[in-house]
Amino acid sequence: MTLLEAEIETEAERLLRALLHVDCEPGRTWDYAACRRIAPLTLEINRLKREREAIILAHSYVEPELIYGVADFKGDSYFLSLQAKKAQAKVIVFAGVVFMAETAKILSPQATVVVPDRGSGCSLADSLDGAELRRLKALYPDAAVVCYINSTAEVKAESDVCVTSGNVYDIIQQLPERRILFVPDRLMAENIRGELKRRAVDKEIISSDGTCIVHDAFDAAEIAAARGRFPGLKVVAHPECPPEVAAAADFVGSTGAMMRYVKTTPAPYFLMLTECGLVGRLQVEAPKKHFIGGCRLCPYMKLNSLEKVRDALLAPRPDQIITLDETLRVRASRAIERMFELAPTD
Ligand code: 13P
Ligand code: SF4
Repeated sequence: MTLLEAEIETEAERLLRALLHVDCEPGRTWDYAACRRIAPLTLEINRLKREREAIILAHSYVEPELIYGVADFKGDSYFLSLQAKKAQAKVIVFAGVVFMAETAKILSPQATVVVPDRGSGCSLADSLDGAELRRLKALYPDAAVVCYINSTAEVKAESDVCVTSGNVYDIIQQLPERRILFVPDRLMAENIRGELKRRAVDKEIISSDGTCIVHDAFDAAEIAAARGRFPGLKVVAHPECPPEVAAAADFVGSTGAMMRYVKTTPAPYFLMLTECGLVGRLQVEAPKKHFIGGCRLCPYMKLNSLEKVRDALLAPRPDQIITLDETLRVRASRAIERMFELAPTD
């Protein structure tokens, strides 16, 4: 066996140890042969990262071979934004969607930020542009403008503060304004109204009309049916879900909080009302837990692949490189920095 073959075998064994329990996505399971097939690519990417002084940030929804094969940091939008802000790397590859890579560029302008697939949009971010937000602001001039991080840089530049699913309630609660213009997630806005009511906080929430195509598709009937079939089931939902789904869940939170909840909650079964990639992460990191329910994929997140990450590192095409007008970037950074100031530290 040559030195290279030995290196590939060692890499395949490392990948297999990580991915062995992942079987949430129909038609995708991990055995030695599957890991052996991708090992040359993960080795090449990890070598390129060292050569280019690059880091890879991966959202929990991307394929597990990216998360456990090549990522330096994996997690939810808030965690990854923090890593982008702290990054000293020359290159940041964002295996996620375009608004996340834009956020990294806003926070780390000195770095070359690349996105593996420029088509990796987001139904929320793509639902609202700066002109439409300016029109809404003119209708509600007294409102604090709060943008969900799933928004374009232009929308962030028009906002007073940015929030993520992990801090949205706590940040809005702290704002002095009673009237809040929250964009672009209509369903999360309904969940905010519900949570603020529970907290006895008097605010008026006005929203625009975006939804997440993945989370909007869950419905409360499937929760009732699952509870009937699996006694002791815990239902875990993302705040992008419809309010009746969030109300019927045992826990609602960001993908990071959902993971923490599952890891620390003894229950025979979990129903995860979010993108399927999170189940994959839990199958790796909490292999004794049992998950029921189908597998919903975000078509944008799933555009990421090892090949595209390799190409973005080797010789990024212009469409893979994030560029932002500097005035816009500075304005957008204010909303994100205000989030870091107001976000609870845990
Ligand atoms: P999180 O910040 O909770 O990971 O959410 C990001 C997202 O796009 C959910 O659909
Ligand atoms: Fe956007 Fe929904 Fe995909 Fe998240 S899961 S990136 S909100 S489309």
